[in-house]
Amino acid sequence: MPDDAKMRTVKLGMLGCGVVGGGLVKLLAKHRDDFRANGFDLKLTHLAVRDVRKDRGVDLSGVEVTDDPMKVANDRGIDLLVEVMGGNTLAVEAGCAALVRGIPLVSANKSALARSMGRYAEAAKQGGTGICFESAAAAHIPIIEVLDRSLACEELSVIKGVINGSTNYILTFMERAGCEYEDALKDAAAKGFTEADPTLDVEGIDAAEKLTLLAFKAFGAYVPPDQVHTEGVTKIGQVDVLLATALDHRIKLVAAARRGEDGLSLRVHPALVHRGELLADVDSEFNAIILEGPGFKELTFLGKGAGELPTASAVLNDIVKMIRQPDTSTLPGFKRTGGDVQLADTRSLKLCYFLRLAVEPAHVDGVLSALKGLGLVVLSHAQVSHGGRNFLGVISDVIEESRMMTALSEIARVAGVTQTPGLIRLDKDNYRDIVEREQSTYFGSSLER
Ligand SMILES: NC(=O)c1ccc[n+]([C@@H]2O[C@H](COP(=O)([O-])OP(=O)(O)OC[C@H]3O[C@@H](n4cnc5c(N)ncnc54)[C@H](OP(=O)(O)O)[C@@H]3O)[C@@H](O)[C@H]2O)c1
Repeated sequence: MPDDAKMRTVKLGMLGCGVVGGGLVKLLAKHRDDFRANGFDLKLTHLAVRDVRKDRGVDLSGVEVTDDPMKVANDRGIDLLVEVMGGNTLAVEAGCAALVRGIPLVSANKSALARSMGRYAEAAKQGGTGICFESAAAAHIPIIEVLDRSLACEELSVIKGVINGSTNYILTFMERAGCEYEDALKDAAAKGFTEADPTLDVEGIDAAEKLTLLAFKAFGAYVPPDQVHTEGVTKIGQVDVLLATALDHRIKLVAAARRGEDGLSLRVHPALVHRGELLADVDSEFNAIILEGPGFKELTFLGKGAGELPTASAVLNDIVKMIRQPDTSTLPGFKRTGGDVQLADTRSLKLCYFLRLAVEPAHVDGVLSALKGLGLVVLSHAQVSHGGRNFLGVISDVIEESRMMTALSEIARVAGVTQTPGLIRLDKDNYRDIVEREQSTYFGSSLER
């Protein structure tokens, strides 16, 4: 261990001491000897919280605590700022104030980073420093490091995954308990898997913000969350879960960024995922991210995407990375060129689709023929009874979304269809890929042509 004279003291300022910040305080104490063995003493010296009197159950002795984040960000005594406060206004002001002064920033605030990336980048440039945000994208999955360094020069075509734990918990619960969305949401809230206001999670906004960060690192293109095609899970019903199960699929909220011939498409929406695929096995608060590229085919990452210690640990690893190699920041980080932000029109997507149709058993054959007449190739279908009604679930072959939407309005008028049809995309845009991977399990006897 270096002697005390050679020991470098690094003073941290921190904004927020809730779930993530509290976890970080615990980890700082736990790893103190490791830091010292590597020649630095990491000390939390300044902290901003809303309520300075709250007992946080962690040792904050020797820490100057204020309710003013700007005071911490501008304090000349700090060497690095950690932002685990959340929000989109003060968090950005404080983070940028520190960066402009040349103080590096480690942030878990996906929303602020995704929405104000330009401001952060400009402030970092002005101050000649950088930002690390591993914890913001998928908490404990070190995907940013992989994209920024390990695969910096790898051509990527797809980054996709299940990246919101709350919705994944809700969908898993609906399947296991056989309940409707509202009851699963209540259970998720009772177990602390959602925020007091669950809108950001259940409407897919949290996943869209993370996808902005992932796509930026994967493709060098900045697509603000508001330009990500975003649909949440609030319209998923138990009947959809039952039909998906009958068709050997599970419903997941999938976030996907794809570079295709038409440009880049960024989408967050519920998707039917075949049971044979890894994404189908990702349950509850776990996240999974899959990378695809022509040179390596596929890489998969699985881990905890939220929670006190997984997130705090990712924050701490960023801090240590910044201390050991100050130029290893994620922003600016490794710049990928060719990130032309040509956004693909969602209507031109070519995917497989799942349709939920309320159809009396006597009309099923007629409805299937009508679908064929509307240009849909039905790959697979199943029926379930729910709430005293018969439902037909259909998986179509790849079709352009605009054609699917036109067909959908026609399907509602087909004789025997007694309710507005429901539609969920599949996580599939490549028919050949499906055939190659799933021929034995998926296509077996149920493939209809
Ligand atoms: N929780 C996770 O699993 C997770 C995972 C990945 C990323 N993140 C991100 O990490 C950040 C923090 O999340 P969290 O779950 O730790 O949140 P949290 O438990 O709500 O904690 C927020 C902390 O910030 C403080 N704070 C909020 N507004 C403030 C203000 N205006 N001035 C001073 N202090 C303020 C709060 O002070 P008081 O305690 O006094 O109210 C609290 O200590 C968010 O950006 C979140 O998106 C969280």
